[in-house]
Amino acid sequence: MRTQVAIIGAGPAGLLLGQLLYQAGIDNVIFERQSADYVLGRIRAGVLEQVTVDLLEQAQAGERMRAEGLPHDGIELLFGGRRHRIDLHELTGGKRVMVYGQTEVTRDLMAARERAGLLTVYNAVDVTPLDFGGERPRVRYVKDGEQYELACDFIAGCDGFHGACRASIPEGSIRNYEKVYPFGWLGLLADVPPVSPELIYAHTERGFALCSQRSATRSRYYLQVPLTDKVENWSDEAFWDELRVRLDPEARAHLVTGASLEKSIAPLRSFVSEPMRFGRMFLAGDAAHIVPPTGAKGLNLAASDVGYLSRAFAQYYQERSSEGIDRYSEVSLRRVWKAERFSWWMTSLMHRFPEAGAFEHKMQEAELDYLVHSRAASTALAENYVGLAMD
Ligand code: FAD
Ligand code: DHB
Repeated sequence: MRTQVAIIGAGPAGLLLGQLLYQAGIDNVIFERQSADYVLGRIRAGVLEQVTVDLLEQAQAGERMRAEGLPHDGIELLFGGRRHRIDLHELTGGKRVMVYGQTEVTRDLMAARERAGLLTVYNAVDVTPLDFGGERPRVRYVKDGEQYELACDFIAGCDGFHGACRASIPEGSIRNYEKVYPFGWLGLLADVPPVSPELIYAHTERGFALCSQRSATRSRYYLQVPLTDKVENWSDEAFWDELRVRLDPEARAHLVTGASLEKSIAPLRSFVSEPMRFGRMFLAGDAAHIVPPTGAKGLNLAASDVGYLSRAFAQYYQERSSEGIDRYSEVSLRRVWKAERFSWWMTSLMHRFPEAGAFEHKMQEAELDYLVHSRAASTALAENYVGLAMD
């Protein structure tokens, strides 16, 4: 068996890359460790930048997002017990974000792949990238107890933070940068109407909270919690009680609660691996970098990475030029580091850090006050939140 690009991982990065390559006439096969249902069961990101929306359209997977996604023109910052609106649309000269869940993005990309008749090997065991330092890379895997190999021109490592691709690069060939935060996010999904039309990012003495949504009838809420907390010790009732305390009086009065559909704790981390290429293997998305979720950049970075990578492969196959693939890492990393900076800054501003004293709290409050009252500062937030342009 042989293909042009072997993609490891069927998360948003792998599936979107597969569709973009297909549109460019490039043959590809995806290997995924889990089942399709398992991948769809993971509740993650919810906010898409225009760059991501455009790439999903280009991949012919944008129809349902166009019909059902919720365009948002602003966000609210809550601190000192009051909410302040950041008008993303006005501050960025007409840009906005799209609220549409990662689950739906993944479902649409899987459906587009099925329509195109492309192969995805789900439940693939021991997927191993081989010989990517040379001219003839291969992927070895086990399916239903049998071992197989696929020869390819390139390998795309889209297998997330804990995947096999980055781990198989020889030590000393890549450099990792990492920061681990001393708290996590407890997320809850419920079929209740959102507390407010726009997202609320709340900075409170008891820690950060986020009110997000998936539709007019489905809400997603998050609470900053200590890393030592266990999800099984958080009853739905305890979650709603804590969220209520972190909201302003009006939101508190409007909050509709209900049984959770999903509840989980995610640790927060900043991580970048440089470069994003080793020989004929290219890393994209969480396989190469992680951002803390504040500011919703993780999924969007995965999308822009594969936007650059699909362009580079198209240049290689259509124009016989290696320039795009040679520049992929450098071009992607410029955008990655800016999103890392924004996510780190927003995380540092909005959360309660265990080691912070009274002075640091005053600094956070002063910065928030400056942010919502200075047009320059609000514009910088808005410009990053809606997403920086792709070079
Ligand atoms: P992934 O979605 O991780 O996909 C990688 C795929 O590779 C997975 O399907 C995995 O099963 C597969 N895989 C792994 N190892 C192998 C292997 N050896 N062989 C074959 N397949 C393999 N971002 C936000 O913007 N907002 C959020 O609220 C948010 N919440 C998050 C919560 C959690 C718990 C996590 C982990 C991430 C969250 N993110 C969030 C980040 C966002 O979801 C990711 O940035 C995004 O999923 C990245 O997509 P990806 O395709 O690169 O990686
Ligand atoms: C969501 C997650 C985020 O990290 C964020 O900044 C906004 C929304 C969400 O899951 O809806």
